[in-house]
Amino acid sequence: MTHKVVVIGAGVVGLTAALYLLEKGHDVTMVAKNIPGDIDIEYTSIFAGANWMSFAQDDEIFYQELDRPGYGYFMNLARNEPQSGVHIIPHHCYFRKSQLVNGKVPYAWYVKESFVENVRYLEKSELPSNEDEDDEFVAGVSFDTVTISTNIYLHYLLQKIYALGGTLKRKTIKHIDDAYNLHHSGEKAEIVVNCSGLLSRFLGGVEDEKSYPIRGQILLIRNSAKKQLFLTTPGFKDESLYIFPRKEGGSIVGGTFIPNQWSGVVDPELAKRMIARAKKYLPELVDPKLGNDPEIDVYRYTVGLRPGREGGPRIERVGSIIHNYGIAGSGYQASIGLSQLVVRFAEEFFNRSKL
Ligand SMILES: Cc1cc2nc3c(=O)[nH]c(=O)nc-3n(C[C@H](O)[C@H](O)[C@H](O)COP(=O)(O)OP(=O)(O)OC[C@H]3O[C@@H](n4cnc5c(N)ncnc54)[C@H](O)[C@@H]3O)c2cc1C
Ligand SMILES: *[C@@H]1O[C@H](CO)[C@@H](O)[C@H](O)[C@H]1NC(C)=O
Ligand SMILES: *[C@@H]1O[C@H](CO)[C@@H](O)[C@H](O)[C@H]1NC(C)=O
Repeated sequence: MTHKVVVIGAGVVGLTAALYLLEKGHDVTMVAKNIPGDIDIEYTSIFAGANWMSFAQDDEIFYQELDRPGYGYFMNLARNEPQSGVHIIPHHCYFRKSQLVNGKVPYAWYVKESFVENVRYLEKSELPSNEDEDDEFVAGVSFDTVTISTNIYLHYLLQKIYALGGTLKRKTIKHIDDAYNLHHSGEKAEIVVNCSGLLSRFLGGVEDEKSYPIRGQILLIRNSAKKQLFLTTPGFKDESLYIFPRKEGGSIVGGTFIPNQWSGVVDPELAKRMIARAKKYLPELVDPKLGNDPEIDVYRYTVGLRPGREGGPRIERVGSIIHNYGIAGSGYQASIGLSQLVVRFAEEFFNRSKL
């Protein structure tokens, strides 16, 4: 049976939830202050890496299950839907001695899982040598993963939504109750899905004080590489280095994970450190033999704010509202897992209201 649904928010979380609900046959209106194409500090999804690299620990089964279905979904898009802007690329994670938890490599639950392609621990000889640094690399994980060109993918989701009859309205919602009255049919929505990201802190007068930003400075560069990497940077607690080359060429370089900083202003000293690290750990970026410029060629310096939330994301149904926000640094990789939960919560609600 078709039900009337309003989805608040058109970031990757809201768009994916809307698409899943449409695929179940529901009549969906999206309402959002920011939509695909916007470049606005309030619209996190445009600034993401975005790759699949689960941050779940060994005992964090809930997060593992949120990330798991995204892997196969995005690998499939890369292979079969070139218009999605998703491609497959080998990924290397390097871990330092200080990062081991009880002697074990963190965030590596999926090494023992068969769903991740070509996953393995790296040999010592494959780790970067870093005699110049205090905290040596002692382990690494490599696997094939996806990098998603965010702008292309957000538009792709919207095109799929339109093709299925979904609608989108650009509007700021001031109060919870308003959302029910914004369904395109003119009738009241039966269920509202709240995918408001970081702005959940300000929405509706009932602000979620647990939502907070995790600031990430990024550089978009024209240089490309044949693999992506992620490593931490000793001496700079909230900094790390990641480089994700994209399908259309060029790469995104990050990153920082600075909690509670709202500023969208680029830190130029940090940008210099990021460029130096990129050259040091992935020299092919500046190798003319591989068609690259001999210098890092930055086309945008910018900042994104991950929607952090104390205690983790809120994914639950309260009456006829499904909350689905606060997924921090995992919004792309978890978008499929989250949307499957939204569909289940909606179904549960419609089943009950039938009784
Ligand atoms: C630097 C950086 C790197 C990242 N890298 C990765 C990565 O590699 N992999 C990964 O999986 N994730 C990554 N992320 C995380 C990912 O970007 C986020 O988790 C994801 O974008 C969150 O999406 P969202 O839809 O919840 O929020 P948003 O994209 O912020 O969307 C929120 C939506 O809600 C709307 N909204 C809010 N309030 C209202 C209101 N009152 N009325 C109407 N509309 C409203 C907004 O306008 C917007 O449309 C990264 C993030 C950053 C910043
Ligand atoms: C969405 O969640 C936020 C945070 O809890 C809340 O402030 C807001 O009122 C909610 N919006 C809707 C439509 O439920
Ligand atoms: C809803 O009802 C259908 C049909 O009875 C059933 O197959 C489905 O499992 C139910 N879903 C939930 C989440 O309760």
